[in-house]
Amino acid sequence: MPAISAKAPGKIILFGEHAVVYGQPAIAVPVTQVQARAMIMAEPRLPAGSVRIQAPDIGLESWLTDLPEHNPLAMVIHQVFAKIGIDRPPALTVRIASTIPVASGLGSGAAVSVAVIRGLADFLGHRLTDEEVCALAYEVEKVHHGTPSGIDNTVIAFARPIFFQRKPEGNQIETFKVAKPFLIAVGDSGVNSPTVLTVGDVRSAWKADRERYEYLFAQVGALVQSARQAIESGTNNRLGPWMDQNHALLTEIGVSSPELERLVAAARQAGALGAKLSGGGRGGNMIALVTTETAEPVCQALRQAGANNTILTTIQ
Ligand code: MEV
Repeated sequence: MPAISAKAPGKIILFGEHAVVYGQPAIAVPVTQVQARAMIMAEPRLPAGSVRIQAPDIGLESWLTDLPEHNPLAMVIHQVFAKIGIDRPPALTVRIASTIPVASGLGSGAAVSVAVIRGLADFLGHRLTDEEVCALAYEVEKVHHGTPSGIDNTVIAFARPIFFQRKPEGNQIETFKVAKPFLIAVGDSGVNSPTVLTVGDVRSAWKADRERYEYLFAQVGALVQSARQAIESGTNNRLGPWMDQNHALLTEIGVSSPELERLVAAARQAGALGAKLSGGGRGGNMIALVTTETAEPVCQALRQAGANNTILTTIQ
């Protein structure tokens, strides 16, 4: 059996993080400059049922049977076997490599899950739909991210810009038209910030003052609706001030940090049309709306202000 390789992109949230956990809509887009890749190789010399996992980036080399039940990679692999109805898989190795920084708001965990699910299912002769891949990845997200909305695994499984809203009767997932491509600069604060912690802290704050938080979330939701209309009608410049407003609301929600504030201010000073933190916050990445003229000066300003890395990505 030939080796099979599958990849999945990173992601950024353009508008609506955190509020999306509480039923407000959000917009997320894939970032293809970074990616997770899974390679599945047959091991004809090993007995059936042997599954080896190699993730050199994190120094992991293990048999599946030796990993704890709640290890994210073990969970993903067991999910795929269960979905396909396999008790004893052919002997194989799953090798994972990723260029998506961990705990930085770019969806590294969800991207690894999606790449492994796709690669392994293909290897076993079962092509899964994007919806099926998304649903399996969500099961793992739930165990590792507390109360995730599902937006990360969704945008990464579909690898298209999405409008997402969590609903009791089933999530609303819409891919939508970007009338005019636009440029986003992504700046990495270099501070690791696991989403499970920020999502948990926001939940405690919400429990302590539901009225205030529901009001903040509703304002974020209104910005998301306006942003979608602007993106669909090609009036992209309007997004800048709304990004600034979304950032101010996220600061009130309590998930900004001195490092993120410094990067957001530097981007604006260098000519960005708007800037905000993106993802869980307290660290990780921020984004800025730029033009072809301001892209380079903004990326340079971000690096001077302490960004570990910058990415320029076109949303289309
Ligand atoms: C993380 O990318 C986005 C959050 O809203 C968490 C979630 O939606 O699960 C912070």
